[in-house]
Formats: sequence, C-alpha cells, structure tokens
Amino acid sequence: MTYTSPIPQLGLGTFGRTGDAGIQAILSAIEVGYRHIDTAQSYDTEGCVGEAIRRSGLPRSEFFVTTKVADTNLSKVDFLPSVEKSLETIGIDQVDLLLIHWPSQNDAVPFDDYMLALAEARQRGWTRHIGVSNFPIALLDKAFALLGEDAVITDQVEIHPYLQAPRLVSHCRSKGLVLTAYQPLCKGAVNDDPLLKAIAKSHGVTAAAVALAFLMAEGHAVIPASSSIENLKNNFASQDVNLTADEISRIRTLDRSARHINPAKSPRWDD
Ligand SMILES: NC(=O)c1ccc[n+]([C@@H]2O[C@H](COP(=O)([O-])OP(=O)(O)OC[C@H]3O[C@@H](n4cnc5c(N)ncnc54)[C@H](OP(=O)(O)O)[C@@H]3O)[C@@H](O)[C@H]2O)c1
Repeated sequence: MTYTSPIPQLGLGTFGRTGDAGIQAILSAIEVGYRHIDTAQSYDTEGCVGEAIRRSGLPRSEFFVTTKVADTNLSKVDFLPSVEKSLETIGIDQVDLLLIHWPSQNDAVPFDDYMLALAEARQRGWTRHIGVSNFPIALLDKAFALLGEDAVITDQVEIHPYLQAPRLVSHCRSKGLVLTAYQPLCKGAVNDDPLLKAIAKSHGVTAAAVALAFLMAEGHAVIPASSSIENLKNNFASQDVNLTADEISRIRTLDRSARHINPAKSPRWDD
C-alpha cells in the first residue's frame, strides 16, 4: 500500500520516558535515526523531547513533533492556553501535529468546542497539522462533517497484530485517513509470538520488526517506544523489511480484538 501521509511512517513513542533517563532514551533514538517523535501533555515528556532535540544539535526542521491536548484541557477556557504551554515546554514555536488525546467523556465538553479550538490552533500557526486520537468511526465522521474531510490527518489508536481494528481500518481507508498505531508492539509481547518469530527468522530480523513492518504494510504509521539502543535499532530496521503477500495474510490471522488501553473514559470502540 503506497504511503503518502506527511507523518513519517515510523516514529518514536515517549510514554514513560521522563527525566534524564527519558532525555537520554530520546537522544539515543535520534542518533539511531528517528525523526518523528510522539509526546503528549499528559506524559510529562514534552520537555524531554525538546531537550533531546536541542542536545542532538540537529535543526528543528529535521523533526516531526506530535503532541496531544489532554482531555482535562478540552474546555474553551483551557484548550488554547494549554497548547501555548506545550510549545513553551517543548521549546518550539510550532508542533508538526496536534491531536485531541481523548474525546470528551459523555460530551462533558461539547464536541464542536474542542474540535474548533483544534482548528484554531492550526490557524494561529501553532501546529502544521491536526488530528485526533482514540476516536471511533462515529466521532471521526462528526469531525469530517464539522471541519471537512481533509482537515484531520490521522487518528492515533491502539493497533498491533492482536488488535487489527478491521472496521475502523476499513472506514479510514475509504476516507483516505491514515491511522497511527500506538502500542504497536503490544508492550513487547509480539516478540514472543511463534508466527512472527518464524517470519522474522527468514528475514534475519526480530519479531518486533516484523510486527512493525506488517503495520506499515497495512498503511499505518507506527510509534513504538523503547529506551534500549538494541531495541531502538531493531525497531528502526523494520523499515527495510519487505513482507510477502502470504506473510501479510498469515499475520492478519493473529487478530483477536485484544485491546489493552480501555479506561473508563473510552468511547464505544468499533472493534
Ligand atoms: N494516544 C494514546 O492514547 C496512546 C496510548 C498509549 C500509547 N501511546 C503512544 O504510543 C507509544 C507506544 O506505546 P507503548 O509505549 O505503550 O507500547 P509499545 O511501543 O508497544 O511497547 C513499548 C515497550 O516494549 C518494549 N520494546 C520496545 N521494542 C522492543 C523490542 N524490539 N523487543 C522487545 N521489547 C521491546 C519497550 O521496552 P524497552 O524500553 O526495554 O525496549 C517498552 O517497554 C507510547 O510511547 C505513546 O507515545 C499513545
């Protein structure tokens, strides 16, 4: 599947990469070659991302930085000041992608309020692109109706070989919307999968790299996290793995709707 999104297809997750150890992990990833870095207001890693970018000595223009507005900052009063604060914390004038992290639970904040504030952040030049996270089909369609079908460039959702989200994927493909797969390694569990291990062996890579290559072959962006140089390198190598059509079909059979991130504030999922 041809990938044409402005979002670099392989990125780095930063959840849990806080403090000096977090800065070091992000810097190591930059040295390995990662340029798309995913953070969020709620991760406490925005500052680490900014610091790692500065310490790398590379120009800001080399990077694609995503952050997310927390569900506690969705109200009209809090939204835009929270984005200004994110920019200040990261130490940049503009992010590349700004996402709504979670939709407002039970419409506590009206949908139009926070989606229009997201569009306003882009209009002000605080982000190049906008998107959403943890949005099911019904909310995506509401967003398309409000802002137009080209406004939102991704929905960042849990997707890995054990949760392939076929309904959501099919709908997004029909709309030309790229999904960003979070927790793509199922927290590392994919590395113990017998099928992925067997395919990995024939390609001379890790099972994790096969999982990432599979998700990218399905047309998704992926944002695995790691603090280990070895894992960072192995995951980065997924970009050079070309799976056969038969391998892709076999990995598709691993789907078992196994969702791990499902807090009380979750919307009604499609898969
Ligand atoms: N939008 C949302 O609501 C949302 C929710 C969850 C996550 N996210 C984003 O998605 C990113 C990724 O998700 P995640 O961090 O939860 O899970 P993940 O990327 O699936 O897994 C990360 C874990 O897997 C291990 N790992 C990484 N590479 C490995 C490899 N090659 N072999 C074995 N183990 C490996 C890491 O340990 P080591 O450090 O030891 O390598 C780490 O503990 C997050 O960091 C965050 O940016 C977004």
